[in-house]
Amino acid sequence: MDKELIAPLKDKRVVVVSGGWSSEREISLLSGRNVFEALRRQGVEAVSFDLASPDDLPKLLKEKPDVIFIALHGKAGEDGSFQGFAEVAGIPYTGSGVEASAVGMDKWVSKWIFARNDIPTPRFIPIPGDADYVPAAQKAAAEFGFPVIVKPRFEGSSVGVHIVHEELALLEQTRRVQAEFGDVLLEEFISGMTGTAGILGDKAMPLLELVPKTQEFYDYQAKYTKGATQFICPARMDPEQTRLTQELALRAFRSIGARHFGRVDFMLAENSQPYLLEVNTIPGLTDVSDLPAEAEVVGISYDELIVRITLMAIGER
Ligand SMILES: Nc1ncnc2c1ncn2[C@@H]1O[C@H](COP(=O)(O)OP(=O)(O)O)[C@@H](O)[C@H]1O
Ligand SMILES: [Mg+2]
Repeated sequence: MDKELIAPLKDKRVVVVSGGWSSEREISLLSGRNVFEALRRQGVEAVSFDLASPDDLPKLLKEKPDVIFIALHGKAGEDGSFQGFAEVAGIPYTGSGVEASAVGMDKWVSKWIFARNDIPTPRFIPIPGDADYVPAAQKAAAEFGFPVIVKPRFEGSSVGVHIVHEELALLEQTRRVQAEFGDVLLEEFISGMTGTAGILGDKAMPLLELVPKTQEFYDYQAKYTKGATQFICPARMDPEQTRLTQELALRAFRSIGARHFGRVDFMLAENSQPYLLEVNTIPGLTDVSDLPAEAEVVGISYDELIVRITLMAIGER
C-alpha cells in the first residue's frame, strides 16, 4: 500500500470499538479484530476496545481517542446512538452520522425515502406493533399475491425475516414477528437474484451475487453457515444492468444521508429490474465480508480499505 496514504494517521490514536450488546455482538468482535489488525499492520497506533456494556463508556473516553473506528453492528452501534455519544464527546468517528445511521436501521423510513426519490423498492405495508395485523395481512395478500415477505422494521442479518406462501401462514407469521419485534412490514416478494453493492466514499464497488445453496432465501443460516452460500463477484449481470444498479445503490446511500462506506442490498428481478431493499451503514468488516471482497476485485486490499475509511473520519479523503 502507498506509504503516503497513511501519513495523516501517523500521529493519531485510533480506537477500534466493537462488540456491543446487539444480536450481532459476535460478528462485530470479529470485524473489530480484523480492523485493529489491519491498522496495526500498517503502522497506525490502534487500540482494540470491547464495548460490552454502557458502563464501559467512561473507560473508552479515558483511552483519549483521536478517532473512533466504529465496528459495531445492530442496535446501539449502527443505529445512531453510539454515533450520538461520539458527537457529544467531540470525537471524530468512521461511517455515517446520527441521522443517517438511524434511518438506515429503519426499514419503513428508508423505503419511504427511496420511494420519494424514485428508487425502486418492493411495495410494502407497514404494521405498527400495537395495530391489528389481520386487515393489513389481508391487504398484502390481495395486493401483492403470494409469496409475501414478513420482516421486522428494525433488525439485521435476516433476523425475523420470513417468506410465506399462503394466507394462514401469513397471518401466523405476522402475528409472531409483531409479538417478538413490534413494528413490522409486509413486502411484495421479488423473485430473482440477491445481491449487494458495497459503497466506498463516492463509488459503488463491483456487485456481489449471493446464491443460497440449501435455504429458500438469503436467511440467517445462509448468511452465517460456512459454505451455505455461493458468492459470485462480479455478479452475473450485463454491463448496463450493473451500471444502473450501482447508480441506484449510490443514490439510495446518498438519499438517506449516509457517508464514508456502506452496503446496499438489492434483488434483481427476473425482468432485470433492480429493487433496493436497504442500506447497511456498518456492514460486516471481517476480511471475508461482502464489502472487502468487492473492494478486492478493484484492487483495494483489506488494509487499504480500512485505512481509507479511517482517513475519511478525519476528513483526509
Ligand atoms: N421483498 C423481498 N423479496 C425477495 N427476497 C427478499 C425480500 N426482502 C428480503 N428478501 C431476502 O431476505 C434477505 C434479508 O432482507 P433485508 O431486507 O436485507 O433485511 P436484513 O436487514 O435482515 O438483511 C435479502 O437479502 C433477500 O435475500
Ligand atoms: Mg440485508
